[in-house]
Amino acid sequence: MDETKCTTCNDKDTGRCNTQSCAGSTTLPPNPASDIKQVIAVMSGKGGVGKSSVSALLAVGLARRGFKVGILDADITGPSIPKLFGLVDRPEQFNNYILPVKTSLGLQVISLNLFLPQEDDPVIWRGPILSSAVKQFWTDVAWGKLDYLIVDMPPGTGDVPLTVMQSLPLGGLVVVSSPQDLAMMVVSKTIKMARQAGVPILGLVENMSYLVCPHCGEHIHPFGSSHVREAAGRNGLPLLAVLPVDPVLAEMGDAGRIEDYQGVSWQHLEPLVEAVEKRDERGIVL
Ligand SMILES: Nc1ncnc2c1ncn2[C@@H]1O[C@H](COP(=O)(O)OP(=O)(O)OP(=O)(O)O)[C@@H](O)[C@H]1O
Ligand SMILES: [Mg+2]
Repeated sequence: MDETKCTTCNDKDTGRCNTQSCAGSTTLPPNPASDIKQVIAVMSGKGGVGKSSVSALLAVGLARRGFKVGILDADITGPSIPKLFGLVDRPEQFNNYILPVKTSLGLQVISLNLFLPQEDDPVIWRGPILSSAVKQFWTDVAWGKLDYLIVDMPPGTGDVPLTVMQSLPLGGLVVVSSPQDLAMMVVSKTIKMARQAGVPILGLVENMSYLVCPHCGEHIHPFGSSHVREAAGRNGLPLLAVLPVDPVLAEMGDAGRIEDYQGVSWQHLEPLVEAVEKRDERGIVL
C-alpha cells in the first residue's frame, strides 16, 4: 500500500494528501502549550551531508534576526543537535509537558539524546517506536511561542521522515546534498517523497561543495563538479546556498559551539535564512 496516499485527497490532481489543506490529513494538532508559526524541515536522502549543521545554522541565523526558534531533533538513533550546541541538561517536566532545553542564544531544543543517561548510549528501536517518539516531540513538548520550529531529519526516506511529513504541519522543506553524482538520485528521491506528501519545498542547499586553498584562494572541488544545481534546475527549485568545506565549522560543531560560528559559510547562508523568513503561507508549491 502507498502510505502517502490519503483517502480524502485521492480524487484531487495529485491523488495525494496535501497536509496543508486536506480535511483528511493526519497532521497532529499543536498542544495547548505550543504556539508555532512555521515548521520547517531539513532533509536529505543521504547521510552525512550536513543536515544537522545546516539545521543548526539556519536556526541560529533566524534567531540572530530576532525570531524565536526551536529545533526538534527527529534523528532519534543518530541525534547530533545537542552535541552541536553543547547541551547536556535533561529536559524538565511541567504540567505533564516536557520542556525543551535552552541554548545560550535562547533556541529551544528537544532531542532524544537529552534523555539518555550517557550521550553515547545507543538507541536500538524499531521503526514504529522511532516514529512515535518523534510524534511525542510534537504532542508532549511545551514549545511555547515560536516563530520557527526547525526539524532536523534523519538520513533517508524511511519511517521517520514519512511520519514527520504526515504528522507535523510542515510549512516547507529544505533539501541538503553534497555535490557528488549520487546526489542527483538522492535529491530526486527526496523531492518525489515531499511532492507525494504535499510538502512545499523551499529549495536546495549544496554542502561541502568546494575547498578554498588557504594559500592561493583557488576553489578545489574534492567531490567533482556539482550536480545539485542541475537537480535544482531540473526540478524547478532554487539553489538557496552553496557552502564550502570549512574546517572551522566542523571544529566549532565538535566543540559544541556552533552558535559562536562566524565563519565563511554565513555569507552563503543568507539566502537560505531569507527564503525561510520570506516564504508566504504556502511556500513554493510544486
Ligand atoms: N560545510 C562543512 N564544512 C566542514 N565540515 C562540515 C560541513 N558540513 C558538515 N560538516 C561536518 O560533517 C559531519 C557531518 O555533518 P552533519 O552531522 O551536519 O551531517 P548530517 O547530514 O546531519 O549527518 P547524519 O546523516 O549522520 O545525520 C560533521 O562532523 C560536520 O561538522
Ligand atoms: Mg544529522
